[in-house]
Amino acid sequence: MARPKIALIGSGQIGGTLAHLIGLRELGDVVMFDIAEGTPQGKSLDIAQSSPVDGFDARMSGANSYEAIEGASVCIVTAGVPRKPGMSRDDLLGINLKVMEQVGSGIKKYAPNAFVICITNPLDAMVWALQKYSGLPRNMVVGMAGVLDSARFRYFLADEFNVSVEDVTAFVLGGHGDTMVPLTRYSTVAGIPLPDLVKMGWTTDKRLEDIVIRTRNGGAEIVNLLKTGSAFYAPASSAIAMAESYLKDKKRVLPCAAWLNGEYGVKDMYVGVPVVIGAKGVERVVEIELSSSEREMFDKSADSVLQLVDACKKIAPDLT
Ligand code: APR
Repeated sequence: MARPKIALIGSGQIGGTLAHLIGLRELGDVVMFDIAEGTPQGKSLDIAQSSPVDGFDARMSGANSYEAIEGASVCIVTAGVPRKPGMSRDDLLGINLKVMEQVGSGIKKYAPNAFVICITNPLDAMVWALQKYSGLPRNMVVGMAGVLDSARFRYFLADEFNVSVEDVTAFVLGGHGDTMVPLTRYSTVAGIPLPDLVKMGWTTDKRLEDIVIRTRNGGAEIVNLLKTGSAFYAPASSAIAMAESYLKDKKRVLPCAAWLNGEYGVKDMYVGVPVVIGAKGVERVVEIELSSSEREMFDKSADSVLQLVDACKKIAPDLT
């Protein structure tokens, strides 16, 4: 069977890491695309030259024309401008909306059957715009945020409890970053919910609260350290988990920015919720009952996404 073709639209820091991970995991052949001439060609050649050493077979190529993505099974979109220190994700909105218009029309023309994963920020608004511009089915266009937010949460919790990251699960809802809603009662260490771990004396409510705050600001913490860009290793790994679930029909339950049609009281918007990803794309939205305080946090988060979507509609009134 031919290897699936994976198109990386944007070949910057995340795009390069994605290509490397796809090679190492032999998930498929990679086409890297970018407007910067030479970047996708150079990175793909460099990664291809690592394949004899690491022992993987994958075709790696780079291009500056959308024709190259023709027939892709998966498109992962990182094209755009990343945050600089002091810049919020929302500051990026105007610039990256224009980028989504170009990317959406490229995907529409050359890869209309692809499963599309958007990473470009501000995520929940950009994935909404990308679905509109591409016209692809809503279950085939998702945003990567929740896997990353929950990975950050899991990492900090594992560190707090001095246990393996593998045994920590986290459940997060809502928009990416600052308004993320961690559901502590559904986050566990080997199945033991966080509130029980507080009762067992493993941690305190205050320490958990600090971890939640650090998780919410996880992106900014890295931007401030790097000074010249934003996080790329963990975002790339997170998108790979989503692509792999689609390509291998694993039906993993992953928190993603998914199109909602009434679930959680949200209509025609992308917000982070747990979904099942399989060969049909988003196969199911997992809707749980929220307590009143969780509902309040979720509504606040959904409201901030709504404001971003409204800002997009103001800039591009055809996007309704
Ligand atoms: N079409 C295609 N590629 C584009 C376009 C465009 N219109 N505009 C910019 N690019 C490319 C840039 O040339 C660059 O190579 O997108 C790439 C972005 O790469 P980086 O600047 O290294 O950013 P990265 O760290 O990969 O993050 C990408 O993901 O997490 C988000 O906030 C982040 O929106 C940002 C995105």
